[in-house]
Amino acid sequence: MDVIDAILGRRSVRKFGDAEVEDEKVDIVLDAGRWAPSGMNNQPWQFIVVRDRKTIDNIAQCTIYDDIVESANLLIAVFLDKDEMYDRTEDVMAIGACTQNMLLAVHSLRLGAVWLGEILKEKEKVNRIHFV
Ligand SMILES: Cc1cc2nc3c(=O)[nH]c(=O)nc-3n(C[C@H](O)[C@H](O)[C@H](O)COP(=O)(O)O)c2cc1C
Repeated sequence: MDVIDAILGRRSVRKFGDAEVEDEKVDIVLDAGRWAPSGMNNQPWQFIVVRDRKTIDNIAQCTIYDDIVESANLLIAVFLDKDEMYDRTEDVMAIGACTQNMLLAVHSLRLGAVWLGEILKEKEKVNRIHFV
């Protein structure tokens, strides 16, 4: 898919089917995130791929968008890596570029996704989750 077509065609998807997402596709999406630009090339992101239903349920309890989270059978949790940070604003901008790259890759693979920023209101609760 042409990049302009991907940018213009991508939409947030908030309800998902039952099909499992193949590992190969997840790897493509994660690589798209990793290849995002970042200030000083510090790559201040860490990802956790979640397929475990109990962990998905625990994450759903951290957001008002619990129905969206519950409907997914795969989540990618994107974390700002405090050990790699050099400037909070620039690092958060890099996280945005990284996440947009992943959303575009998802779309180009004919999959759907939505960015759920609201969950940041409960980030301490998210950080206490035991990710499986
Ligand atoms: C930083 C950020 C945070 C977002 N947080 C949420 C969210 O918490 N819940 C949600 O349903 N959509 C969220 N979205 C998706 C936006 O609502 C969506 O991108 C916007 O309405 C435009 O629609 P589109 O993505 O279909 O083009 C977020 C998007 C961004 C960039």
